[in-house]
Amino acid sequence: MTPDIMNGGRGVSRRSFLESLGGMGGSALLLAGMTALGFDIASANAAPPELGEGGKGKKVIVLGAGVAGMTSAYELSRAGYDVTVIEARAFAGGRCQTARKGFKLTELGGEAQECDFDDGLYINHGPWRIPYHHHSTLHYTKLFNVPLEVFVNDNDASYVAFNKGTGPLAGKAIRKGQIAADARGAAAEILAKQVKQGALDQQMTAEDRQLFLAYLTREGYLSADLAYTGTDGRGFEVNPGPGMVPGPGKESTPYPLTDVLHSKAWGVLSSVTGYEQQRTMFQPVGGMDQIAKGFERHVGKLIRYSTLVKKYRQNDKGVEVTVSGPDGKVETLKADYCICTIPLSVLRQMDMGVSAKFKAAIGAVSYALVGKIGLQMKTRFWEEKHFIYGGHVYTDDPDINTITLPSTGFQSQKGVLLGYYNFGASAAKVSALSPKARQDFAAQGGMRAFPEYADNVETSFSAAWHRIEHNLGGWAQWDDEGRRDAYPILCEPDGRLYLAGEHLSYLTGWQAGGIESAWQQIAKLHKRAQAA
Ligand code: ALA
Repeated sequence: MTPDIMNGGRGVSRRSFLESLGGMGGSALLLAGMTALGFDIASANAAPPELGEGGKGKKVIVLGAGVAGMTSAYELSRAGYDVTVIEARAFAGGRCQTARKGFKLTELGGEAQECDFDDGLYINHGPWRIPYHHHSTLHYTKLFNVPLEVFVNDNDASYVAFNKGTGPLAGKAIRKGQIAADARGAAAEILAKQVKQGALDQQMTAEDRQLFLAYLTREGYLSADLAYTGTDGRGFEVNPGPGMVPGPGKESTPYPLTDVLHSKAWGVLSSVTGYEQQRTMFQPVGGMDQIAKGFERHVGKLIRYSTLVKKYRQNDKGVEVTVSGPDGKVETLKADYCICTIPLSVLRQMDMGVSAKFKAAIGAVSYALVGKIGLQMKTRFWEEKHFIYGGHVYTDDPDINTITLPSTGFQSQKGVLLGYYNFGASAAKVSALSPKARQDFAAQGGMRAFPEYADNVETSFSAAWHRIEHNLGGWAQWDDEGRRDAYPILCEPDGRLYLAGEHLSYLTGWQAGGIESAWQQIAKLHKRAQAA
């Protein structure tokens, strides 16, 4: 039901009620009114559920010490529950990992890698950026004193390096800001001239046409005679400076529209304008795993590391989880409830005593094939020679996709950049290479934007999530059918088993999905435990 047609029962529509509040008292009163009418403008997922203290005497086993598992453990233990977390890895965090010196990874069927970046350098090969509206993730970074810095998710100074376009710009590394300015400028000029010639006289009032022209002039940096001849925002050919020389400098010349169009580089212009991504985002100072460590400081004592789940059984009295510990000793743990955050890609292969319907639903989702590589560079040539501080170099080679420059350590000697971020068939193809061959592949791929790659690549660390044991994929990818049929089944408990994780959210591929799913499931579990 849309708000417009809902009527508060007082003979006034919700919209007109809100309009009158806005008129009388400004935005504060308007917001209060919206909340009163149930619009819930404050995110429902900005804070964990208030569980109180009613968990005493009840046991919960949490499977997985990733972000969803540790969220569950933290909040449930605060409410008095006796929580044990079973974690397959020797460390907590799940996909919330950072590779720095000494970090080890052996992919399924792959060679062992041990990260040998210089001290202080790292790559976030899992989650790497946080939107400002992921209140849940930001709730815990604040609570656990995990300092944040800006993640530069867009940079006009960075390059678009497209090979598949045609014309004089194809294959060249072009500054994204120049493409943006020239595309906007040329489009605004054409439109403005059409308006001036009367093309929209029938559709628009004279006043609207005037305003539209004013907007186009501003939007496209147009001159008084509605021409786009460039803008200082696209950079100078000779930069302005002191005295007479360079004095005012020399402005740069726009690329002709036909060249811009044929380059296809305009395809990247809306890349960070959606809901999920913004031009600037956040990252934890020192690596994404600082979030995992923040949780671990509070729930680490509840976690049994290097422990594998062998079997899950349940009945109407409780649950039994058979595990084998780091020494291979097998034991069966008992509890009242279980929260399972194991990715469905892994869970579907496990011995789970759940209903047939639940089991089928677990198997109804596919997981993303995703690969990333961090390349340690001897110098920060992208800053020193190209003046690019953070952001992505966009390519149209799906095997490389984006090259991302670090948003940290500006102007230091060395740096680790993301050499590729590939998906699907490209991720499968590149992940079939050995770690060294992946490095060579990435080193070759980056040459298009930066010839300096040739002398700078020192070492690398790569991860292909679909080949990583305990994950078998980057994140859940629901199709419409799965969302309709399987997803609702998995969002409800099966007996005493509650699933949680990014896969049970509409924020798949984001830590916020894991956290908020955990919040939702523990609230349900708690309600039931209280009633029992
Ligand atoms: N959330 C993931 C990213 O930021 C997919 O790339």
